[in-house]
Amino acid sequence: MSARTPCLLDGKTLAQKIRLQLKERIAHLQPKIGRPPGLSVLMVGDNPASAVYVRNKERACQQIGIVSKGKHFSADTSQQELESVIAELNKDEEVDGILVQLPLPNHLDTVSLLHTIHPDKDADGLHPVNLGKLVRGESGLRSCTPAGVMKLLAEYDLTLNGKKAVVVGRSILVGKPLALMLLEQNATVTIAHSRTQDLAAVCRDADILVAAVGKPEIITEDMVKPGAIVIDVGINRLENSQKQAKLVGDVAFDRVAEVAGYITPVPGGIGPMTVAMLLSNTVQSYSNYSK
Ligand code: GUN
Repeated sequence: MSARTPCLLDGKTLAQKIRLQLKERIAHLQPKIGRPPGLSVLMVGDNPASAVYVRNKERACQQIGIVSKGKHFSADTSQQELESVIAELNKDEEVDGILVQLPLPNHLDTVSLLHTIHPDKDADGLHPVNLGKLVRGESGLRSCTPAGVMKLLAEYDLTLNGKKAVVVGRSILVGKPLALMLLEQNATVTIAHSRTQDLAAVCRDADILVAAVGKPEIITEDMVKPGAIVIDVGINRLENSQKQAKLVGDVAFDRVAEVAGYITPVPGGIGPMTVAMLLSNTVQSYSNYSK
């Protein structure tokens, strides 16, 4: 069989377009609101991958005129200390969005910390109020990575009505909210996970296959229906024997690309879309400020 060339779903270019639109929106809103938008990214500890993500988010903020009020805490910071910082940020009139970079060190209770963020400033869309609105199909702040996936599909006019979607991974950050968003667009949705039996057969049934597990290249060509849309949410750092780092997704890109109809690259697919959606959520909260 000759190799096919799938359509690449270019998240990098779309994210750039969204950032320009947001920059213009901020320029339009700022005279009315009288201050720039503000986002506070809280990072606890020294997880190297998180440090890269946080730096990218802060740089993206600065490029479009969002004031980045990042705070970095040592790995032994207490729950109480973080809760009181969040309480202050909830009251701060110059802060429109608050994000706690995950994962947190083990001694911290992630869920109860996320509960303390005011739902209107929940830039990550992970507060139960915003997740509840998603379940009910009401408007609200949406989780960034799943929102980025949906935006990218829409950009390429990939309609989901009646299609079979399989999401591999059931995290609260990606798998669960994404399944709800796909359902909202009338896809028939399956969530697969570590206990799923015959994962390959489940995946092969998908018109839209989303990999969000955080395991390098676990989705292989035999697990993909010919012509399917393949969305790779994974960002895994692999080192070769010379200690050179390479980013790979959860999908074995080169081999799956020979089968898929559409596929996202890593890097340059969903990663930049996540950042764009974070900026978008911050601007959404900012635009509500004067109402
Ligand atoms: N860690 C990896 N991705 C994300 C994200 O989108 N939001 C947060 N808060 N933490 C993350």
